[in-house]
This record gives sequence, C-alpha cells and structure tokens, in this order.
Amino acid sequence: MSREKVLERLRASEGCVSGQTLSEELGLSRAAVWKAVESLRRDGYGIEARTRAGYRLVSVPDALTESEIRSHLGETRTVGRTLCCFPELDSTNNYAKALAQKGAPDGTAVIADRQTSGRGRMNRSFQSPKGKGIYLSVLLRPVLSPEHLPLVTALAGVALCDAVEKVCGARPGLKWPNDPVLNGRKLCGILTEASLEAETGRLQSLVVGIGVNVLQTPEDFSPEVASMATSLLQATGQAVSRPRLAAALLEALDRMYADLERDSLSQWRAAYRRDCVNLGKAVQMIPFDGGPRETAEAVDVDEDFSLIVRLPDGSRKTIRSGEVSVRGLWGYAE
Ligand code: BTN
Repeated sequence: MSREKVLERLRASEGCVSGQTLSEELGLSRAAVWKAVESLRRDGYGIEARTRAGYRLVSVPDALTESEIRSHLGETRTVGRTLCCFPELDSTNNYAKALAQKGAPDGTAVIADRQTSGRGRMNRSFQSPKGKGIYLSVLLRPVLSPEHLPLVTALAGVALCDAVEKVCGARPGLKWPNDPVLNGRKLCGILTEASLEAETGRLQSLVVGIGVNVLQTPEDFSPEVASMATSLLQATGQAVSRPRLAAALLEALDRMYADLERDSLSQWRAAYRRDCVNLGKAVQMIPFDGGPRETAEAVDVDEDFSLIVRLPDGSRKTIRSGEVSVRGLWGYAE
C-alpha cells in the first residue's frame, strides 16, 4: 500500500524528504504521495510539510497497528512473525483459537485495541477498554504433555516482567501462579487455553492470552476491580508506548518459547523464584469450592510451578494452580 511505503520511507529518514523524492523512489504520483500523507495524518501521524524541503515525520500515534509494532520489533524466531492487529475483537483468545483450527502458523500473534468480551480465568470477564491496554494472544504448538501446561502460563508471566522492565525500568512481581503485580496490585492477566486431541490426549495447540493494563487511570476500572488493579501509568507515572511494549512482549515470548522447546528453562525458573512475591511470606489459600480458608507459609515452587507451602503444623503441601486462589495476608498480593 502506498501509505505504508510513504510511512516506512519517512521513518527511515532523520530529516525532510521532498515530495519529488518520495514520488520517484516509491514510484507514486505526487498526488498519491499527498493522499498518503493526508491519510497518515488522519490516523494520528504528525507529518510536518515545509516549503521546498518536503515532509518530515515528527510524531507517531500510540496505535497497536502492525506498522507501529513492527517499527519496534526486532528479529524473532517464531512469535510475532505473523501479526494480526484489530481495532476491536470480542476476545483475542477466541480469534487465535479460530486461527489455530484453520492451521495458522506457530507463533501467530493476535492483538486488539479493545475487546468487547475479554475473558479471564474461571470465566470471569477481563475489562479491555479502547486505547488503554494491550490485549494479545499468541498461538503456540509446543511438544508438551498436558500436565505441564501450567508451566507455560508461569513462563509467560516471567516474559511479561522482562518486557515491562525493558520498556519502563520497573520490574513487576508475580503473585502465584501468574499474576504480574506492581505496588501490590494486578497489572496484567494471563489466560492460557489448550486444544487437545480427544482420542490421544495429545496437545494440538495452545493460546496464551495476555492483557496488560498500560494507560488506565483509576476511573477506567470498574468498582469491583478498582482496589485490586493497577496500570503502568498508575504505578510508575509513565505513559509507556503500547506498540513498544507489545513488541518487547513478543520478543520475550519468542525467547521463552525457544527455551521451552530446547528444555532450557533453568534461567526462567530462577527468574520466577526471584519475581514471585509470595515466597517466604504467609499466604491465605481460598478454595474455589467455597471450603474453609487456610493460612500457610509459601516456601517454594516445584518444577511444574506448583506452590509448596508449610502449614501451621509444620507439614508441607503442594498446591496446583486451579485448586485454590492465593492471596497475601494483608492484601491482594502480599
Ligand atoms: C485473568 O486474570 O483471569 C486472565 C485474564 C486474561 C485476559 C487476556 S486479554 C487477551 C486475551 N483475550 C482474552 O479474552 N483474555 C486474554
């Protein structure tokens, strides 16, 4: 598309590029160049026009478009090689699962600026307002037995911490099993969904869905989640570029996926143990079936990222994700 060609040429140039040069280099008429510039301006690109000097790109929009994300994205092996970006979807996980059925390539990433039915764990909804967060799902086809699936969600949590740290300097913690938190509040939600072959129980595909709160202010959260949730803007004061963070997240997920396939996870396990805000602290365990709450000390995570706790009588217990919800003694995380 001529619009994309003009944008890429302006991105590549520090100074002004004349209309004549754009037209000659890109094989477009002067009118087509002008139309492309006007269309880009309508989408929020700041393009200065100087008499006799030409056009200069002075600002870019905070848009989750393929062009903006790719302008920050380095070379990846698998994740993000195919990118599908949308202004709105019901749920990026739903879309990625449909793509999986149609044979989409390993590592395909689906990103939306808004979700109308964003889903969380236990069928909860995930608030996904327009222009505020990153709603991203990655389709993976790992060779992995289904009992090891919690591993992927935990590793995705570490990847998210890496990406946030790279872009804004602050490293989130992880509330077990996989909620990235900042200042004791939830920054991000991760929902991994698997498709299994019924006859053999073999894993066919996996969709790792990640929702990051980036630019929300307190009023953007509904009253039910407002006291537990935060955004990067709220927690750090930084209005982080969403396409830049999305690119950093795709790169981190690509490294994670390569290491998962090579079974080279020792660094990831070590990072998880460092990031987990619960280890060495007291936790409340809240059974999903409404049973009585227990208090224990979180002492470790095992190879599959199950939580090992020490009960008040000194005995140890291993808790799998999905059995109980864990809260800190004083608040959501700690
Ligand atoms: C949770 O905290 O319960 C998990 C929330 C996961 C939300 C993300 S947003 C992108 C992807 N699409 C969805 O519908 N859900 C996940």
